[in-house]
Amino acid sequence: MKIEADLIVERADQLLTLAPGENAKTAEDKLGLVPDGSVAVKGESIVWAGPDREIGRHIVLSAGGKRLNARGKVVTPGFVDSHTHPVFAGSRALEFELRIKGATYQQIAQAGGGIKSTVENTRTASKEDLRDLGLRRLEEMLSLGTTTVEAKSGYGLSVADEIRMLEVLRDLDRKHPVDIVSTFLGAHEIPPEYAGRKQDYVQLVIDEMIPEVASRKLASFCDVFCEEGVFSLEESRRILEKGAELGLRPKLHADELTPLGGSELAAEVGAVSADHLLFASEKGMEMMAEKGVVATLLPGTAFFLFMGRYAPARKMIEKGLAVALATDFNPGSCMTQSLPLITTIACTQMRMTPAECILGITRHAARAIGREDTLGSLEPGKQADLLLLDIPDYRHLSYHFGINHVERVFKKGREVWKRTTCGQQV
Ligand code: NIG
Ligand code: FE
Repeated sequence: MKIEADLIVERADQLLTLAPGENAKTAEDKLGLVPDGSVAVKGESIVWAGPDREIGRHIVLSAGGKRLNARGKVVTPGFVDSHTHPVFAGSRALEFELRIKGATYQQIAQAGGGIKSTVENTRTASKEDLRDLGLRRLEEMLSLGTTTVEAKSGYGLSVADEIRMLEVLRDLDRKHPVDIVSTFLGAHEIPPEYAGRKQDYVQLVIDEMIPEVASRKLASFCDVFCEEGVFSLEESRRILEKGAELGLRPKLHADELTPLGGSELAAEVGAVSADHLLFASEKGMEMMAEKGVVATLLPGTAFFLFMGRYAPARKMIEKGLAVALATDFNPGSCMTQSLPLITTIACTQMRMTPAECILGITRHAARAIGREDTLGSLEPGKQADLLLLDIPDYRHLSYHFGINHVERVFKKGREVWKRTTCGQQV
């Protein structure tokens, strides 16, 4: 019996299913590349994907169904940005300039700028303003191919302000086609009113914030900025354990600026992902590999903070870690929503191949947010989030950088974004 479809995207020069057979070994194999490939959608789901010459045997288009010719294009799953901080007010452009002139990120933070300045601006902004800013940012992400985003709180740092940020994220998720997976990051910084009383703030996070967030089901994950001068290993562990106890799965900003041992901690608490990892130790990487913790690398941040070094991506891949790539979009350490740009930085600075990068923003990113059952690949049963890219070969996504190659975006089977040229829809 043939399966009915209401959308067929047909004859892509390269269809990347990210769903290869059992024997796929290399990153290139894992792309599941089908030349002259077609994909069939019914409602919100993929019903079939494979070589165009075989589609007639499996699929029949429903009356009123739509066919879209993808000749000359590459078709991929929608991109998943698995680490962002998109709800904030104000800008840190002046800090950017200070950093260009020689100040470091940590010096700016110690002088009361950095995260604290964004907290001040975010606390005083109205909920409507935060929503409007968020909507514009999501729209930009969608235009660049991101169809699902993990988004963190962390610019509120009081019970009421953290809840408010998570409520804004919930509203944005309802209003905009990009799906949002929320993470509670109350332990992002110590707020000014708790200066010199860090233990009291940690207790507030544990005793009040986490129970409130969990009982109102406002987040799926709990994250901590585990870093020298911010939250220690022990504080991070206590916070993550409390979150896990109440159903918030752990994630961690780990070994970003100093080698503190965050990657080991991530493995010990069974984190879904450990993120940044510029200073991850050999042992930490091995422990993560053993526990199946995804290594989420954010090379845009290392680039934007002039770190002069990057996470050891090659070593991680050799050790069998699943490497995801994300933007870390935030006003201080990485002001971009572009996952394609992040892949170019990953290729040129960490020597990840274009195929490894695509895995990093699809399949591995879906795993990093616990959504591998529905997202990250084009195979029957998965959500029909897919992109038409106006490039002749997938490598051009990273190779031809600084411009947008996205032509059309489908979210849950529905076209939600389309490129225009000279005012005309393509
Ligand atoms: O992932 N590391 C901590 N949080 C962000 C920076 C946030 C900010 O500077 O506003 C990051 O780099
Ligand atoms: Fe971050």
